[in-house]
Amino acid sequence: MTAPWWKGAVVYQVYPRSFCDSDGDGVGDIPGIASKLDYLKALGPDAVWLSPIHPSPNKDFGYDVSDYNEVATEMGGMAAFDALLAGMRERGIRLILDEVLAHTSERHEWFAESLKGEEGRKTDWFVWADAKDDGGPPNNWLSVFGGPAWSYHPARRKYYFHKFLKSQPKLNWREPNARAAALEVLRHWLRKGVDGFRLDVANSFLHDDKLRDNPPIPPNLRGPHHWGHAPNMQKRIHDSNLPENRKVLDEVRATVEGFEDRFVFGEFSEEPGLIGEYVGQTHGLQSGYTFTFLDDRSYSPAIFAAYYRFLKERPHVWPCVTFSNHDVARTVSRYGGGKHDDALAKSAITLLMSLKGTVLMYQGEELGLGNGAIAQDQLRDPVGELYFPYSKGRDPARTPMPWISAAPNAGFSTGTPWLPVDPHHAQRAADVQALDPDSVLNFTRDIIKERRNIPALITGDIEILEAGEQILAFNRILPEQTVLCVFNLSREPASYALPRQSTVSPFEFGPGGWGFGGPGLTLKPFGAFFGQAG
Ligand code: NOJ
Repeated sequence: MTAPWWKGAVVYQVYPRSFCDSDGDGVGDIPGIASKLDYLKALGPDAVWLSPIHPSPNKDFGYDVSDYNEVATEMGGMAAFDALLAGMRERGIRLILDEVLAHTSERHEWFAESLKGEEGRKTDWFVWADAKDDGGPPNNWLSVFGGPAWSYHPARRKYYFHKFLKSQPKLNWREPNARAAALEVLRHWLRKGVDGFRLDVANSFLHDDKLRDNPPIPPNLRGPHHWGHAPNMQKRIHDSNLPENRKVLDEVRATVEGFEDRFVFGEFSEEPGLIGEYVGQTHGLQSGYTFTFLDDRSYSPAIFAAYYRFLKERPHVWPCVTFSNHDVARTVSRYGGGKHDDALAKSAITLLMSLKGTVLMYQGEELGLGNGAIAQDQLRDPVGELYFPYSKGRDPARTPMPWISAAPNAGFSTGTPWLPVDPHHAQRAADVQALDPDSVLNFTRDIIKERRNIPALITGDIEILEAGEQILAFNRILPEQTVLCVFNLSREPASYALPRQSTVSPFEFGPGGWGFGGPGLTLKPFGAFFGQAG
């Protein structure tokens, strides 16, 4: 049996507002994406995942949807979408939509209807509960963005649950009609021909029907969080992350697999230990990602080794592997490279393409971009507005793509961009990098292409061999091919003792920077060795 197309595929995430603006309103749009299809073709991903494109009041920039079946006018509307899909088909690139079905926008007509209470038809489509006797919220659940996860609404004289912003009311997946309506959204887009979905907070479809309090995490055990604010104060076992959530994922999967050759993966933003419940060959979603690597700032071998050792106990899980997206600091900044660090960027791209999983890479990662600079009056992310200057929120990862170094706004827009283009990014624009044989862009193009000829890196299993202070070594294994991958993830030279009488034949892939000597293999800072065993 041949593997499904998405196993080990490279999926490129486009954040449409910041990709390319075709009409000068400062906001990226779908015709802008369509104008870059040849760029995408040359880069070489199998699929493009579009962050949400539906109508939205943009309190959370598309992650608050007011109409699931439409395409926002500011994105170019449905005609632009159809043209994009056709253009992608022509080039053999698949299209994945981002569906945010755990909550809606407060502007969605379902919520408006629910607000009418008993007289409306959608009374329980959202999670409504009475105040406590003292007038406070029904329980202790906290919003991911900080503060209570409940807001009072005078229309019903009750509280409603929102795991994120107050303007993102939680859809009640326990209500059969609400659940059916959400699944129908997926069918609508599957019928239009999209190749699959990324499901927002797929760990959060169900809440505890008894609304029990989440247990506190003792203060000394409260870890850091990827947005630099405070949600790790309680164990999120009743507001989300329920065992029964898996049954909902089964239904989602059955819906998607009712159409041939489609892919659905989830964002599992909390309780990473549950991935084995929520992803499997015969249950849950086909794949998904946790924040294990996205939260990491160390780039240390131990992080990667621990995750794959954990997955070894869950062989039914095919993971997504990702270092970067619109929610976290950009890879090179997070791993200590500051504004940019090409050696680090190339090492990280190579590692991303070598670890077991479906690869999710984020726009700008192929240019080795670090975080974009944002001043306080330029902030747009509500998380940044809450916590500046302690945290700037997520805008530094969302600044516009630099296309043409010498053009105004680096060619992103002829108008005023909704977020500023970082001048450092402009210097590293795609046009400049395309002409430089040593650029991160050309490196990434080559590596995506070369990886297609190394089946073990695409669908192979993984066996961790060594994870020291500097070296991460592993095998990728198929019955017909075993590839030994050795990375020096540090800024100092390192060595690795190849197994004695090793019959590994080295081949060129990635940054190189290795030689034989001393105890075996020596690797320059951020060097990587690849060899075929056998
Ligand atoms: C996860 C998304 O990636 C993030 O951007 C969003 O704010 C939350 N889910 C809420 O939808």
